[in-house]
Amino acid sequence: MIIQPRTRGFICLTSHPQGAAQNIKNQIEYVKSKGEIANGPKKVLVIGASTGFGIASRISAAFGSGAATIGVFFEKPAAEGKPGTAGWYNSAAFEKEAHEAGLYAKSINGDAFSDDIKKQTIELIKKDLGQVDLVVYSLASPRRTHPKTGVAHASVLKPIQEPFTNKTVDFHTGVVSDITIQPIENNEDIANTVAVMGGEDWKFWIEDLKAAGVLADGAKTVAYSYIGPELTYPIYRNGTIGRAKDDLEGTVPAINAILSDLHGVAYVSVNKALVTQSSSAIPVVPLYISLLYKVMKEKGIHEGTIEQMQRLFAERLYTADGNVLLDDKGRIRVDDLEMRADVQAEVAALWKKATTENLEEISDIEGYRNEFFNLFGFNFDGIDYNADTNEVVAVPSIE
Ligand code: NAI
Ligand code: NA
Repeated sequence: MIIQPRTRGFICLTSHPQGAAQNIKNQIEYVKSKGEIANGPKKVLVIGASTGFGIASRISAAFGSGAATIGVFFEKPAAEGKPGTAGWYNSAAFEKEAHEAGLYAKSINGDAFSDDIKKQTIELIKKDLGQVDLVVYSLASPRRTHPKTGVAHASVLKPIQEPFTNKTVDFHTGVVSDITIQPIENNEDIANTVAVMGGEDWKFWIEDLKAAGVLADGAKTVAYSYIGPELTYPIYRNGTIGRAKDDLEGTVPAINAILSDLHGVAYVSVNKALVTQSSSAIPVVPLYISLLYKVMKEKGIHEGTIEQMQRLFAERLYTADGNVLLDDKGRIRVDDLEMRADVQAEVAALWKKATTENLEEISDIEGYRNEFFNLFGFNFDGIDYNADTNEVVAVPSIE
């Protein structure tokens, strides 16, 4: 099979196994180049472990502090002339590299929202690791079937009060246009989005892991949130997804209560806006990201997912004195560089100016596009994208 990028809207339908492997290798090299994460995690469960912040967390734990990792994700191997998903190839490459480095790494492919996958994960921890000392919760999904009620919830990306009109970009063509997004029609849209992307499933995981005795004394757990600039508030932080993030952040005290007798602790880390499969689906946000990248690269402070997660582990979650730097709402902030006043002022000025005609010049739309294709294993040097790739790519620990 010759695998070239095939896109439909903001989705890329194909992924390249050797390119994905290169992407993973690059991330591993970066983490190794930063040296060992002192007092880092040793046995780690990553939920949502195959792409974006999740795979970067898994790599940071494994190659930053020699952690054994179990990854849970929902991905597809190749079938009937169709390539597998990027997360499948990422995980195959990750396990191979981890095993070669003498690190334990196994994966579970299935619906993390279900009771069954939680049970399977607990069995695997019991059998192989005994307990885990870190649980990373990095799911991003458009839907969730509730394990107790059976209701299938679909999340929406909408403003709550009134229609929101702003600029957006088709990052494939570079065309900047105005988009108007209609608000929710009823509160069910909020409830459904909270059900999918809020904190309930994170809490269910921690409850089940705790009840099974597979959390180590002092175990930590972290989930990821986003705030961003005012210009995206109507669609992000004050929109339906923002309500889900409020709910996720609001779940921290309940999880801390579950962990208290283990001396464990739960954190939400607010991360930087980055090109991932999830963020490219949000209107307005890709234009913001392409301007943000331009400004942050010029200032020499740009980070990708792996730089963010390595810093989260090395400078926030696992510090020499054990202190974790938090904001006034108790959150970890690795979006600190994104939110710097000088960065935001420059992005806001560029935002006003941005048009189809000047976009290539004033933004890093080129970098956006490149990273988007990188997510699927494309645009890597040294890979022949015209070659036939007939190799069957397995995730070693999965049938
Ligand atoms: P992503 O789309 O790259 O990763 C999602 C992961 O969840 C994948 O591993 C996927 O296999 C897994 N997954 C989805 N549904 C599943 C299911 N039913 N069962 C098992 N696994 C499932 O997303 P990304 O961007 O890394 O997002 C992770 C978290 O980070 C989310 O909470 C997101 O809101 C947050 N975040 C993202 C930012 C961004 O700019 N991309 C910024 C700040 C926070
Ligand atoms: Na993820």
